[in-house]
Amino acid sequence: MECSWKTVLLLVCASLGVQYTAIRTLRDSLSGPCQGTYRCQTRHHRDSRWRALCDDSWMPVESPRKHILLFATTRSGSSFTGQLLNQHPGIFYVFEPLYHVQQAFTNSSSRLRRTLDRRALLGAYRDLLLNLYTCDLHFMENYIRPEPRDHVTSSYFRRSSSHALCSPPVCSEGGDVAASDLPDETWCPKKCGALNLTLASMSCLSREHVAIKTVRVPEVGDLRTLTEDPRLDLKIIHLVRDPRAVLASRMMAFSDQFRAWKIWNATGRQPRYVDLTQITSTCKDMAASAETGLQRPAWLRGRYLLVRYEDLAFNPKDKATEIYRFVGLEMEDRVRLWIAKNTNSNGSSPSEWNYRYSTTRDSRATAESWRLRLGFDIVRTVQNLCNDTLALLGYKQVHSAAELRNLSHSLVEHRTFQPVTW
Ligand SMILES: *[C@@H]1O[C@H](CO)[C@@H](O)[C@H](O)[C@H]1NC(C)=O
Ligand SMILES: *[C@@H]1O[C@H](CO)[C@@H](O)[C@H](O)[C@H]1NC(C)=O
Ligand SMILES: *[C@@H]1O[C@H](CO)[C@@H](O)[C@H](O)[C@H]1NC(C)=O
Ligand SMILES: *[C@@H]1O[C@H](CO)[C@@H](O)[C@H](O)[C@H]1NC(C)=O
Ligand SMILES: *[C@@H]1O[C@H](CO)[C@@H](O)[C@H](O)[C@H]1NC(C)=O
Ligand SMILES: *[C@@H]1O[C@H](CO)[C@@H](O)[C@H](O)[C@H]1NC(C)=O
Repeated sequence: MECSWKTVLLLVCASLGVQYTAIRTLRDSLSGPCQGTYRCQTRHHRDSRWRALCDDSWMPVESPRKHILLFATTRSGSSFTGQLLNQHPGIFYVFEPLYHVQQAFTNSSSRLRRTLDRRALLGAYRDLLLNLYTCDLHFMENYIRPEPRDHVTSSYFRRSSSHALCSPPVCSEGGDVAASDLPDETWCPKKCGALNLTLASMSCLSREHVAIKTVRVPEVGDLRTLTEDPRLDLKIIHLVRDPRAVLASRMMAFSDQFRAWKIWNATGRQPRYVDLTQITSTCKDMAASAETGLQRPAWLRGRYLLVRYEDLAFNPKDKATEIYRFVGLEMEDRVRLWIAKNTNSNGSSPSEWNYRYSTTRDSRATAESWRLRLGFDIVRTVQNLCNDTLALLGYKQVHSAAELRNLSHSLVEHRTFQPVTW
């Protein structure tokens, strides 16, 4: 019995060793996943499964460290939802680290090799996620441009969206301001200077859990090797939003890219050169992931929660509670406070459009504002392109402009996508 366990462990160790060939930086100083004392005793001191793997006596124990992935698409309310995790004092929250990978790949890829690139890109995404979940932020240096010097960079994408990166020890100036009411975005870039990735790694290690938000992984199936990785206890929050709202929001946020759509919206006539492929593939990916998740394959067991942004916006407290129950953490007071402060419809609520990435005070109005901002002709086109996705996720189609603009008529069907006990 004991002998066969040892064989299994050896195999696990061997496969872990070869699985992620690109792992470098911090890890270079270690002799291997099962030999480095730093890794086993310090780095993963919280993760009892690692301790078990490295000790002689092996006992399967649940890991207390949670690895949370907020899995979403651009303009689906993920900044808002991410705040629910970012505000938790025990969570090290990372806002879209895959941006840097995509940038690096975009600049070096040739169109001819696109299929090959897609697989390579997804592999690089997974590698980076794994390294961030184990708090190796130096791994980002492979992708950040210009290349960081002495592990310090000024080019980290949206650093102030991660509260931990604006607080001590990463930003020693951040202690006092962070305790105040001001959003990190307003002061962090000025006060905190360049980002020391070594300090960031240390901050990550000092927190109990890691949460990452990404909008760049197409389908939940692309994450399968991570859900099956014995080093991680991955919990995927799949955030979806009405694709008509996603489109309206993209048109406002990225107006250069969506010029043709804006002309269409303004004139009521569809220009020939409107690109329908982006919203179509957004819908396909969203539906494919939801279908996969709702079929409950073994590799997603207990690891997948489908959340409609509209449900969260209409009922933030209850939905946030559900999210926290799913990931298995307490919803701390700081999170409750943030919800209370940021989801009120109160007087001069800053509109979603003021700031490209802002979360908004009035979550309900924002969730529905697309209905007043999108021409019926465009809505009808999106409904045709995305009819299956709308049906699957419980979004009603409209059949006239009057129906579209009548906000007392809800387009969100009541649905529960609760994780069933498997
Ligand atoms: C990619 O190229 C663009 C345009 O040349 C440049 O602005 C950008 O900084 C480059 N990004 C990276 C990550 O090299
Ligand atoms: C970054 O932080 C580490 C750990 O505190 C420190 O040893 C190193 O000198 C810092 N790097 C720079 C360039 O300040
Ligand atoms: C605005 O917020 C204040 C305090 O939180 C509350 O008393 C008031 O009723 C709110 N007003 C509206 C219009 O929601
Ligand atoms: C579409 O046009 C209307 C005016 O007809 C405008 O109010 C709205 O902001 C436009 N929507 C977008 C997304 O550009
Ligand atoms: C969506 O449209 C396609 C093509 O018109 C049709 O075959 C399909 O049944 C529709 N799906 C739903 C759910 O209505
Ligand atoms: C708006 O929708 C509500 C609820 O469906 C309906 O009762 C009402 O008659 C509609 N108003 C108009 C002007 O169509």
